[in-house]
Amino acid sequence: MHLTGKEELINIIKQKIQQEGAISFKDFMEMALYYPNLGYYTSEKEKIGGLGDFYTSSELDPAFGNLLAKQFNEIYENYFKNQKFQIVEIGSGKGYLAYDVLSYIKNNYPNLYKILEFISVEKSPYHRDYQKKLLKDFDNISFHEDLTEINNINGIIYSNELFDALPVHLIRKINGKIFEVYITLEGDDIKEVLKEPQKDILQYLKDLNIDISEGMTTEINLYAKDLIQEIGNKLEKGFVFTIDYGYPSKELYKPYRMRGTLLCYYKHTYNENFYQNVGLQDITSHVNFSALVYYGKKSKLYFLGFTDQAHFLISLGLMDIFQELQEKGDYKSYERLNRLKTLILPKGMGEKFKILIQSKNIQNPDIAGLKNLPYESDRYKIEV
Ligand SMILES: C[S@@+](CC[C@H](N)C(=O)[O-])C[C@H]1O[C@@H](n2cnc3c(N)ncnc32)[C@H](O)[C@@H]1O
Repeated sequence: MHLTGKEELINIIKQKIQQEGAISFKDFMEMALYYPNLGYYTSEKEKIGGLGDFYTSSELDPAFGNLLAKQFNEIYENYFKNQKFQIVEIGSGKGYLAYDVLSYIKNNYPNLYKILEFISVEKSPYHRDYQKKLLKDFDNISFHEDLTEINNINGIIYSNELFDALPVHLIRKINGKIFEVYITLEGDDIKEVLKEPQKDILQYLKDLNIDISEGMTTEINLYAKDLIQEIGNKLEKGFVFTIDYGYPSKELYKPYRMRGTLLCYYKHTYNENFYQNVGLQDITSHVNFSALVYYGKKSKLYFLGFTDQAHFLISLGLMDIFQELQEKGDYKSYERLNRLKTLILPKGMGEKFKILIQSKNIQNPDIAGLKNLPYESDRYKIEV
């Protein structure tokens, strides 16, 4: 296989293989996405939005962020009134979701806005610069590169499409045995080779009771396991909202996903060739929400609920916004109404995006976003 994309980055990857021998797929993916100044996320390139490679909900319409703000205010009123309250967004990208959340709080909940401290954690320097400009008019906001920089959070920690962007290990089952996919050089090209998996991978499969089918290739996200535990450790009291695409373990590893869920996004098209456009295309995988629940418990995160974007937004009042727009009846309102529909389309964003909600040190947690839940099939049932 031939690596194409950023020559400088490709040469660095090849040098690493020459020096160290075969590297794991996870190391390759990490370099392709996050190598300083050259990786997909760490370089100066438009990624999200019309001129980028993919859209996220926050780019479509402010309603998503506005309804999230409504949910956060309910939590503030019920569990934190007049006490320290922080909202942390991790992997905040260009800052559009934070903008919609903060604008809505500023305009509708002045008591919360006065007390609120907003903390943005974003690894990409390009995205951090972008959001610093976008969010410059809000008070009491700070920008960080890494979660290790913050401590003792009281309030909310949330993310949108963060976990799907973490580098993953690739595994394959051959003759009943699990192997890990590595990459080595073959002349000027590369080829995949199979090696013994890291011990942590086998432990993960055991912890979550995962038995994949013969011949299946799939992903194991050990970073997600560590990150959810770190989030739990950073949270003193409050809630964690994880918004992303994915499934519970039982659904994610079903035999009809024989090639796993790893996909690349490039200029609004997707492909399965991880070795092309290196440093220029996004590589993502579906999130294993059972893993976030299982490992979250190790840092005292209590599983509160698992729903999808459509049910979550409708529970929080999306239909009221529909009605208001319909009543206005002008061209702009209809245009927005159409856009908003895409947020809740079954088989589309409404069903694809899930929301996992965990809490810590909250007595009798109960939140509006979980009022209407989807039917509990394997796609929604988290075994705890
Ligand atoms: C797919 S983008 C989503 C951006 C944004 N949340 C949105 O919805 O548009 C993932 C973002 O997470 C960031 N990221 C990845 N790992 C991170 C980490 N460990 N800490 C903070 N940010 C991270 C990436 O740099 C990237 O900006």
